[in-house]
Amino acid sequence: MIQSKFPELLHGGDYNPEQWMKQKDTIWRQDMEYARKAGINTLSIGIFSWSFLEPEDGVYDFAWMDEVMDNLAANEIKAVLATPSGARPPWLAEKYPSVLRMTNERMRRVYGGRHNSCLSSPDYRRKVTEINTRLAQRYANHPALAIWHISNEYNNDCHCPLCQARFQEWLRARYGTIDQLNDCWWNSFWSHRYTSFEQVESPTSPSWLGENESPAAQLAWKRFCTDNLVDFFNMEIAPLRQATPDIPVTANMMGTFTGLDYYKLGRAMDISSWDNYPQWTGDERDVAVSEQSAFKHDLMRGVSDQKPFLLMESSPSAVNWFSCNRIRTPGTLMYQSMQAIAHGSDSVQYFQFRAGRGGSEQYHGAVINHTGSANTRVFREVTDVGAALKQIAPVAGSVTRNQVALLYDWNDRWALDIAWFLHRGNQKYEETVLDHHAALSMQGIGIDMIDQDSEIDAYRVVVAPMAYLIRDGFSEKIEKFVQNGGRLVLTYASGYVNEESLTFQEPNPCLLHSIAGIRVDEIDALDDRRTNHFIWNGKRYEVKEVAELSTLDGAKQLAGYEEQFYAEKPMLTVHPYGDGCCYYIAARTDADFLCDLYDKVLAEAGISLLATEMTDGVKVTARYDGDNQYVFLMNSSHAKGTATVTKPMRDLQTGELIDGMCTVQPMSIRVLVSAN
Ligand code: GAL
Repeated sequence: MIQSKFPELLHGGDYNPEQWMKQKDTIWRQDMEYARKAGINTLSIGIFSWSFLEPEDGVYDFAWMDEVMDNLAANEIKAVLATPSGARPPWLAEKYPSVLRMTNERMRRVYGGRHNSCLSSPDYRRKVTEINTRLAQRYANHPALAIWHISNEYNNDCHCPLCQARFQEWLRARYGTIDQLNDCWWNSFWSHRYTSFEQVESPTSPSWLGENESPAAQLAWKRFCTDNLVDFFNMEIAPLRQATPDIPVTANMMGTFTGLDYYKLGRAMDISSWDNYPQWTGDERDVAVSEQSAFKHDLMRGVSDQKPFLLMESSPSAVNWFSCNRIRTPGTLMYQSMQAIAHGSDSVQYFQFRAGRGGSEQYHGAVINHTGSANTRVFREVTDVGAALKQIAPVAGSVTRNQVALLYDWNDRWALDIAWFLHRGNQKYEETVLDHHAALSMQGIGIDMIDQDSEIDAYRVVVAPMAYLIRDGFSEKIEKFVQNGGRLVLTYASGYVNEESLTFQEPNPCLLHSIAGIRVDEIDALDDRRTNHFIWNGKRYEVKEVAELSTLDGAKQLAGYEEQFYAEKPMLTVHPYGDGCCYYIAARTDADFLCDLYDKVLAEAGISLLATEMTDGVKVTARYDGDNQYVFLMNSSHAKGTATVTKPMRDLQTGELIDGMCTVQPMSIRVLVSAN
């Protein structure tokens, strides 16, 4: 894996000069002039350029791209050069129909749209390899080439016969025999025992069409789609690795997108990158918007094991695909951009550099709008971001050193989404992990997102909400962590099924119950008219939506339910185990309880806080580089905020010395530095 460290923070975005081919003498020249003016040092090109690069099968035209690459180099702009597989030219679909995806209704798509090629099609694989090879060979030694951008927002699945065959091959490799598959999928249910792998098909929609109710089959399909995609990704990068072994590769991801296990994709690339489109409101709701964005930044750093990542896309103004597309209120762009850096990004990149005149994204925010003028509010704000990134340039390449990890595992998410129980179709896995993230970050710490495969020894606290599916090896790892003094927080709906989504034959939380010191007897789904309560440390809290009824088995009860037949059963427990301990939260609560609990858990664990006494909407993170510590104080509230830093620091942009309380203007971020 290539360790990429840039001497500066990257600033740029998606650049589509091919849309202006007929006006290149004026527009391309102006693009470079404006890029320099806005402090742009990076542009992503070629993402949707296939029909210009290969106008006919086997006929290539790189002359225009040579010119673009030369322009970038002449202006000291790094090229984030894309492979064009995100969208294909019409001739390709016409000549090789297998590239067109089939829907889960088994309907072949017609040409159109993007991100919809069949990743199993040998024709598509061959054509992608051919064009990637040519791109790699042509630009291997070009001074502008800095990063490979693989495809665009890889997503969704194809159900064609080629994909079915690969799925069956994948099943054979995973299960070995069809009997083993039948056992793992519990196919004695409804007489579904297969006698050959060829009988197994991908899940269908609508439900009456075929198989779409088996949790194990659905889970297998999700896993296959990720593996098939990672295989395609590896195929895409093979010629790039060969021609340009030192150029890092990335693929832009989409936060909590459910179609792919991003840890698997993230670990296959050199730098992770993602596209962040928060729906800022310009009022107090921005505190919640900011928290969602913080959570996803941490997740997108986590999928590549906490290395610095890239913010590959963000809108400099409104997007065009929400139902209500607000423009950014003044200052929001700066906040959005600095927040990415605060969470570990080494870049701020936009979609898009220049708005096209047509197409569905003609009204999407852009650095340069239709007037072609630099005299716009958006352009000035982008220029301000460029200047700010220069001021905080030493942050580039610095890393996080968080002591608290929060589990977000796509296998848990999938298995819960698929499961037929509780609030079917609305288990709120993502919302729950987000709630824990918010409560933890209100304590004045940064958070690492992990999955069940991540190394956890270096953390002091691990929080695993709704860890429903326990993958092989996870419980042993967790047990060792707690034995060695770690603090674990578990919640309801944990340890229900094994890797294959089969229930265990012992009480929940299975494989974790000796650590938790409780046995779950029942789990209840509460509708919105039914709640319960509990008192902990003299304060009364509400229970809602999901609640477990358990029996103590070694743990100490810290709080019991108040009402109905739940009364006095454990709601919050703690179980000392080895040198550490495990807290168990038996039911879903509001944020007030999680905040109070984490206040106590982090204090007990001796977690060093980055800041204290933070007013509403103020959050903090830190990045480290050798002896330097960079602390980011972020205020997403529209009122002035304050926080107290725990040691003297200097504002990296203004030079002001901060000792103790620090003011943060509404919707803004301060970057402080101290020698560690
Ligand atoms: C992204 C995509 C871009 C552009 C953008 C608009 O999801 O990668 O190509 O469509 O959305 O917000």
